Amino acid sequence: MGLPHYVEHRKFAKPRLNSSDPSVLQYLDQDEREVAVDKVIKSALRKTDLSRANIAALEWAVNEITDNVLTHSQSHVGGFLICHKLSHHDILEFTVADAGIGVARSLGILDECEAVERAIQEGVTRNKSTNQGNGLYGTYQLALASSGIFALNSAHANLYVTKAGEMHIRDESIPYKGTYVVCQIDCANPQLIEHALTIGGREHSPAYDYIERKHEQAGGVLRVEAKDLCQTFGSRQSGIEARRYISNLLRDDDGLRLEVDFANVFVISSSFADEVFGKLFVEMGPLRYMRRISLRNVAPAIEGLIDRAITLRSQTGL
Ligand SMILES: Nc1ncnc2c1ncn2[C@@H]1O[C@H](COP(=O)(O)OP(=O)(O)OP(=O)(O)O)[C@@H](O)[C@H]1O
Ligand SMILES: [Mg+2]
Repeated sequence: MGLPHYVEHRKFAKPRLNSSDPSVLQYLDQDEREVAVDKVIKSALRKTDLSRANIAALEWAVNEITDNVLTHSQSHVGGFLICHKLSHHDILEFTVADAGIGVARSLGILDECEAVERAIQEGVTRNKSTNQGNGLYGTYQLALASSGIFALNSAHANLYVTKAGEMHIRDESIPYKGTYVVCQIDCANPQLIEHALTIGGREHSPAYDYIERKHEQAGGVLRVEAKDLCQTFGSRQSGIEARRYISNLLRDDDGLRLEVDFANVFVISSSFADEVFGKLFVEMGPLRYMRRISLRNVAPAIEGLIDRAITLRSQTGL
């Protein structure tokens, strides 16, 4: 995960941003924070079946918690973000940590345990005139609706919510010098947002989500660059990630069309072509596939490989 770098930077290289494995992402300002959040969402789209509402829920929560670091913590090392999928579950878990002043000092509450308990309540904020106090509350609600764990640790206070929704708050003898939040989100729950993001008595629907920002074009068209779909074009594993990304983009709205842009891609393997386009063609059926997916800027050699993969896969079936 690249953690050793942050412990002993002379010995260990910084984790690469484009690595497909989950790695610890450090951010010092808003620009770096946005890059880190986008990387987390992109990786989630490759690894997990996600409805658009759940992508938005994940994005909302990760944005809120990472932003808290820059807004409240005064951490000299900025924030650290990591997100991974639990194996054998549709659960994504993200952690955000900082080395800042902690929740109690920020809220001006002496008792550290009381501070973390208050911080996750709706409307609790250190500054009513600029903030609303929704971030921790909404994120905690998402974990509850997911039957996932949630934790908020700051200085000596350790707040932990179990999968069953029981809350424990402990006064630890060894302090964590800063704040960290852990949250699990169940991507298989179709009603996550309806059940969790009710803020101020109204359902909150996050606007301008990742798909809109990154992929939406005019007229019901989504556009994706092939290199965003996966890490390499050489393996079946990579093909599985690319197919999932495409399926996630097309999942909710049958009217949307997708253009995959192959500019600057010069070679792909046959197994990759089969895993992505052969299987999508058979899964969706020829007419739906042709109505919804088109390829742009494809080199002739790649077009030949994709053509052949679709032909062969149509003969063998899934
Ligand atoms: N990383 C952090 N370090 C220090 N204090 C924090 C941190 N995260 C949250 N807090 C404290 O907890 C309070 C509640 O956080 P929360 O995200 O719920 O609301 P907010 O950030 O104040 O408002 P909003 O998220 O609606 O803009 C914050 O006002 C701040 O005092
Ligand atoms: Mg906040």
